[in-house]
Amino acid sequence: MMIRLMNTTAEATESMDLSTTYMGLALKNPFVPSSSPLTKRLDPARQLEDAGASALVMYSLFEEEIEADEQQAIQLAHEQDLGHGEASSYLPMAEVYPGRRDEYLEQVRRLKEALEIPVIASLNGTTLGGWVRHARAIQEAGADGLELNIYYIAADFSEAPAAVEQRVIDILSATVRQVSIPVGVKLFPHYSSLGNLVQRIEAAGASGIALFNRFYQPDLDLDSMEVSQTLSLSRSRDALITMRWMALLYGHVNMSLAATGGVHTVKDALKMLLCGADVTHLCSALLTNGPGQIERLHDGVLAWMQQHGYESLRQLKGSLSQKNSPDPVAFERGNYLQMLSRYEPPKSVWPD
Ligand SMILES: Cc1cc2nc3c(=O)[nH]c(=O)nc-3n(C[C@H](O)[C@H](O)[C@H](O)COP(=O)(O)O)c2cc1C
Repeated sequence: MMIRLMNTTAEATESMDLSTTYMGLALKNPFVPSSSPLTKRLDPARQLEDAGASALVMYSLFEEEIEADEQQAIQLAHEQDLGHGEASSYLPMAEVYPGRRDEYLEQVRRLKEALEIPVIASLNGTTLGGWVRHARAIQEAGADGLELNIYYIAADFSEAPAAVEQRVIDILSATVRQVSIPVGVKLFPHYSSLGNLVQRIEAAGASGIALFNRFYQPDLDLDSMEVSQTLSLSRSRDALITMRWMALLYGHVNMSLAATGGVHTVKDALKMLLCGADVTHLCSALLTNGPGQIERLHDGVLAWMQQHGYESLRQLKGSLSQKNSPDPVAFERGNYLQMLSRYEPPKSVWPD
């Protein structure tokens, strides 16, 4: 009897459909490793594919790296023109200084050769400049899609909020003009009217939006009295801001939604999907737990779906979004006052 039950469970989960679509790419499941050093080498990338990743987003090629290469090229050309003694021994540029851009393109090609799953490349920058034209080279190297990470701190106080948002649209539009592969945008949450910006991003040609970029904060080292840069990985509680925005955006945009930030456990993944995410991006969870975390998430989500009578991800997706939620105001200001006024300071610390 026990064996029969186990078979039934296995059969039931096998027939369940976890497939999804992200940026127009048909994926077998919603578990996508997000941009991280894990794609810098082929072995970890293969391990992610073997563990069940349905696509992967590469580490970024940064605007600053492209510009440094270009500066170096200009400087070398200038020195050759001036006929410096050693200049005549320079080999053609690409051989002398392969540069980060060429290394990146090579890695796109290598990943495409080594893997069967779609490979999404990543460009990372903040200003509208020549760097976006490298999107075309990325496409030619074989990338299936491109994520544009616009990580910008509005520290110039003379720049009005509308200009900060327009910067995103301009960079995206210039990038989209370069390529025919799908382009997604990865943003951080600090925009005054995020929903409006996301709709404008879609209108400007994006196929997907990845929310949210993790915002690394500088710290102070009180021994050296200097600013210190520490990279801290996320925790599950960081997922709530993303979850809220998945819920608010679901049904208000046609492009794909990627939940990035704080997805560690089966529950985290389920919450994102129930709120409307098409895929859950994974970074800290994989860095901390290894590729096996994808299998654990996959099996855990399937088991939960089976217990709750869902047959497909399509059926589950967005079923607790704001649009479909029994308590839609909870995703906005609703319950805020109630929640604060119900809070009681701990009696052990603050006795009556
Ligand atoms: C070590 C490390 C390197 C990262 N590199 C990139 C990168 O090159 N480009 C990018 O867009 N995001 C990068 N990220 C951000 C992740 O892709 C992800 O958006 C972020 O960590 C939040 O997701 P998580 O909570 O699953 O970690 C990096 C994160 C970490 C921890």
